[in-house]
Amino acid sequence: MVSASPRVLISAEQIGERVGELGREISSRYANPADGKPLHLIGVLNGAFVFLADLARAIGGDVTIDFIQASSYGASTASSGEVRVERDIHADIAGRDVLLVEDIIDTGLTAAFLIERLRRQGPRSIEIVALLNKPARRTRPIEAAYIGFDIPDQFVVGYGLDFDQRYRNLPSICVLDDPGPPASEKP
Ligand code: IMP
Ligand code: MG
Repeated sequence: MVSASPRVLISAEQIGERVGELGREISSRYANPADGKPLHLIGVLNGAFVFLADLARAIGGDVTIDFIQASSYGASTASSGEVRVERDIHADIAGRDVLLVEDIIDTGLTAAFLIERLRRQGPRSIEIVALLNKPARRTRPIEAAYIGFDIPDQFVVGYGLDFDQRYRNLPSICVLDDPGPPASEKP
């Protein structure tokens, strides 16, 4: 039987406070660009949709918003080791300041792949903001300039993060103690 009882690891209040701090830090770093081009936020779908919505509103200045969708996990909690772009960005990022908005950096495979791919399009600068970071699981040497919380090696859901597409709407970050097999692998 699948026992899916999410236990709160980071509360909605803690997330709200930290996102506010990140927004202020990012606003001051990217304020008043010489060429007037605002910071371009690229959210990594699907997981970053909640974080991006809150972060974008916590950033005081002007921003533009875009999305990219990559998959490395499928329905499993273990990385397949492959990254595919399922949906690409629409904007021309040449000469722009770009911030890739990630829900979580786990092995670093997705972020490393996306950063390399976006860098080839000639942005003026490109950095990562990740709500969550699991440093213990890193297999790629990738660092986010801005991190909400470092967390231990546990599978988390909520605030955009899923297990098999569920739990994204939980307002807090929760640990699934026994996620069980994904629905697609059940007999
Ligand atoms: P990475 O490529 O291993 O860094 O994994 C990045 C992606 O894996 C994230 O954008 C998430 O979609 C997913 N992921 C990694 N860890 C978790 C977790 O604890 N909960 C939910 N999704 C996760
Ligand atoms: Mg996912």
